[in-house]
Amino acid sequence: MNNTVIFSLFGETKQVKEISAALNYCEGTLLIHSFPDTESLVTIETEVKDKKVILLAYLDRPDAKIFQLILAAETIRSLGARRIILIAPYLPYMRQDKQFHEGEGISSIYFAKLISTYFDRLITIDPHLHRWPSLSEIYQIPTQVLHAANIIALWISENISKPILLGPDGESAQWVNVIAKELAAPYLVLKKERFGDQDVTSTLPEIVEYADYHFVLIDDIISSAATMIEAVNQLKQQKIHRITCLGVHAIFAGNSYQKLLDTGVTNIISCNTIMHFSNKIDLTKALITALNK
Ligand code: R5P
Repeated sequence: MNNTVIFSLFGETKQVKEISAALNYCEGTLLIHSFPDTESLVTIETEVKDKKVILLAYLDRPDAKIFQLILAAETIRSLGARRIILIAPYLPYMRQDKQFHEGEGISSIYFAKLISTYFDRLITIDPHLHRWPSLSEIYQIPTQVLHAANIIALWISENISKPILLGPDGESAQWVNVIAKELAAPYLVLKKERFGDQDVTSTLPEIVEYADYHFVLIDDIISSAATMIEAVNQLKQQKIHRITCLGVHAIFAGNSYQKLLDTGVTNIISCNTIMHFSNKIDLTKALITALNK
């Protein structure tokens, strides 16, 4: 066993077991006690003195988790850990990357400042880099960004015949383009306008020549699913019925998964950066490779 301890914080046990088995890490245990007033107490049960420590945390619905994450990191540091690395396969708070309306702040900066204070390094997968060209613009610690594109392309090639990829908005063009190239498949991008959290309209480009293709809608985040639902509705109006919705980060707020299912899509697929029953694409090997370097 080497000098690294890896902990799961919010139910990431399966991935932690696979990573520790592959890299000969020690799988640490910690307890999070919630007091009646909802304050938390973290107890580290594994020796961390002079060790490199990795915290793997699924950070969807982050507000309820962030303070426990910080308590864990600070407790581990106080017990003498040498370095603390955060693996957040889904990196929250990236979408407020500018002041959209008067009176608002830029939360992505504040969140980055917070994480940079408590961790020595961050590893994440496909963060929502839209207006920030890279994480180093806002994070003060070394960051490593992994990409799901190749693994998604492999999944599509093994599971979908005659695919055409569809990006639901301009931002998605960056990864749809890479996956399409990998598959030597055609791709198109919709024009999207957002008017509110759940209020989205999109314009579909000409698709007549692709009528017999299987449409694969790909987005980085599915949250309210409004973006996906609008794109699916546009396709249905054009009598397209073979539709797969694929998201890297399956947030699926409220009953959005059911709403998307109710549109009659063929498939809803996601990567395991957030625990969800649509997880079909496993990115654990990418994490292992990154840690092994
Ligand atoms: C846009 O900025 C993102 O790439 C996603 O399109 C967006 O987060 C999806 O959100 P929702 O599912 O709420 O429409």
